[in-house]
Amino acid sequence: MRDKAPKSIQPAPNPADAPGKAVLLVARYAFAAAPHRDMQRLARMAGLLPGVEHATFCFAEQGTPSLREALLALRKAGYPAVLIVPLMLPVEPSFLNWMTRSLRRWQAETPGGWPRLHLARDMTQSLHFETLLASLVRGAAAELPIAPATDALPEASLVPAQKRRVLVCNGPSCNSAGADAIWGHLRNEQERRKLRIAGDGTMTAKSTCLGPCSLAPVMQVFPEGTYYGGVTEAAVDRIVEEHLLGGEVVEDFAYRPTGRKQRLRGTPSPKTET
Ligand code: FES
Repeated sequence: MRDKAPKSIQPAPNPADAPGKAVLLVARYAFAAAPHRDMQRLARMAGLLPGVEHATFCFAEQGTPSLREALLALRKAGYPAVLIVPLMLPVEPSFLNWMTRSLRRWQAETPGGWPRLHLARDMTQSLHFETLLASLVRGAAAELPIAPATDALPEASLVPAQKRRVLVCNGPSCNSAGADAIWGHLRNEQERRKLRIAGDGTMTAKSTCLGPCSLAPVMQVFPEGTYYGGVTEAAVDRIVEEHLLGGEVVEDFAYRPTGRKQRLRGTPSPKTET
C-alpha cells in the first residue's frame, strides 16, 4: 500500500514540496477542553515536520475554529500553500466531495488570492497506519475492563422551555451538499449568540430526510415549519438574525409548499438545461 499524494484543488507544479506551507488538521467535532488540547498537541507535532512553517487545527462539524474560519485565517496570514489533513475515520467519499466543493465555493466567495489548497486522502491509506493500529490494539489490551453499572436509577430531565426548533437535514442528498458544515456553523452560532435563551429560545437537531432533496442542504425552522434550501454559512447567519431572533422569514432562502416540484432558485429550468 502506498501513501497517496495530496489532491490539488488549484493546479500547481508540485507545490506540496515548496517551503513555507501551513498544515491544517481537521477533526470532526469537539465540545470539551481536553480534545482541543489534544488537537493543539497534534498541531505542535505537525509544526515540527520538515518544510512546515505553521500547523493548526479546526473542526469540520461542530467546534471552533471551523474549517472555513481556519482557512480564512491562514489565507490572511499569507501562507503560499495549505495542506488540509482530515483526522477522522471513516472518511465517506461524500465528505471529501463536499469538502472539495466547499473549498472551491469559499475561494469564489472571497476573491483576491488564496494559498494553494491540497487535500490529503483517507488516513487508512498511509504506509504507517498498520503500525498505529497495532499500537492502539496493544493499548486497549492494557486498559482495565469496563465494569457493568450498579446504579439502575433512571435519569431525570427538564422539559425544555424553548419555543423554536431548527432541524438540519442529514439525509443523503443534504450530507453530500455539506449538511455537516451547516450543522456545525449553526451550533457554533447557537453557542456564540446564546440562542437557547435569546428571544423565544431555540433548540437545534439533526433529522433524517426532510423531503425536498433537490433543495439540499435543507433546514426547517419551527414553529412556522419554514423550509430553507441551498443553505450556506451566510444563509445561516441571516436565518439566525432575521428569523430566529427577528421573527421574519428570510425569503431569499425560503421555499413554500406549492403542490409542484421545486428546484433551487438560480438553477437552470428544464427548457434552458443543456
Ligand atoms: S436528504 Fe435532505 S431533504 Fe432529503
